[in-house]
Amino acid sequence: MTDTETLREQILTLKKKRNAIILAHNYQRDEVQDIADYRGDSLELSRIAADVDCDVIVFCGVNFMAESASILSPHKTVLLPEISAGCPMADMIKVSGSRELKNYFPGYDYTGGYKYPADFTLRDIKKLHPGVPVVTYVNTTADVKAESDICCTSANAVKIVESLDTDSVICVPDRNLSAWIAYNTDKEVITWDGFCHVHDRVTAQDVDKVKEEHPDALVLAHPECRMEVLEKADHVTSTSGMLRYARASDVKEFVIGTETGLLYKLREDSPNKKFYPLRKDMICPNMKKTTLKSVLHVLETMENEVRVDEKIRVLAKKSLDRMLAVR
Ligand code: 13P
Ligand code: SF4
Repeated sequence: MTDTETLREQILTLKKKRNAIILAHNYQRDEVQDIADYRGDSLELSRIAADVDCDVIVFCGVNFMAESASILSPHKTVLLPEISAGCPMADMIKVSGSRELKNYFPGYDYTGGYKYPADFTLRDIKKLHPGVPVVTYVNTTADVKAESDICCTSANAVKIVESLDTDSVICVPDRNLSAWIAYNTDKEVITWDGFCHVHDRVTAQDVDKVKEEHPDALVLAHPECRMEVLEKADHVTSTSGMLRYARASDVKEFVIGTETGLLYKLREDSPNKKFYPLRKDMICPNMKKTTLKSVLHVLETMENEVRVDEKIRVLAKKSLDRMLAVR
């Protein structure tokens, strides 16, 4: 037996013993996706976490995803195999205090893109726009969700904004997702200045170049990319939206404008189609931290449990529940 096969067997045995379910985001390493009971985008995994019958959820993803699972299912034990797997975008908005305004991608200056000073908080933007509902991307910490009116994901953001009965909304923290929402709604969208360093690095020139290399391919882009990229894309959607679109399409070649982990499932689903990354360096280091070893480790030790303070959990759950109620 190879090392991978041995690890898989050990994980499967322990999973049964613990009555555990393994959830994996579409960006996880191939071998981690293979061991999962369910794979999906943030919205799908939130719904599964809320509904699945088990005692333990091993969440192969980043911190905010495990936190959401624990918020929705407080009676289950939610384990994050790599406790340091965070989402830098989630750290770009705070309820109070200061955030770090840093460059995430060497050689590319993001700092010019920050609109607000480091000590400007969610509470400050709410004060500036009293009565305007806050729509919070799930890529945030629990306390930010707790101070929001409703959550959204990349799969339902426009629908969530449209479901509100106000003319203005505050959308946090992703400036690119907010721009995409604004492009698709008549409502005024008040934006924050966060971004995903994996998607924000892609430029319109990158799209032009890849289109020249693959003239027959359709370009699918995630709404965390900049508007200049989204305007040139053939279809803009969440990670699982890309899986569905590519599966259903008669087209045989696609350029994929999101984290390269998605290519594994795209190729598995449609072995006769060709998939090219929009940029080869669209890799989220935090998503790649989880390994079969770390999955086995948490199942053995039950370490790295993710729990949220009860007061915050109850408020954050309201924002998540409101989102899940919008179909
Ligand atoms: P999806 O919800 O589309 O899977 O995206 C999550 C994410 O973190 C994108 O970077
Ligand atoms: Fe966060 Fe971007 Fe990684 Fe998604 S890909 S988890 S938004 S840093």
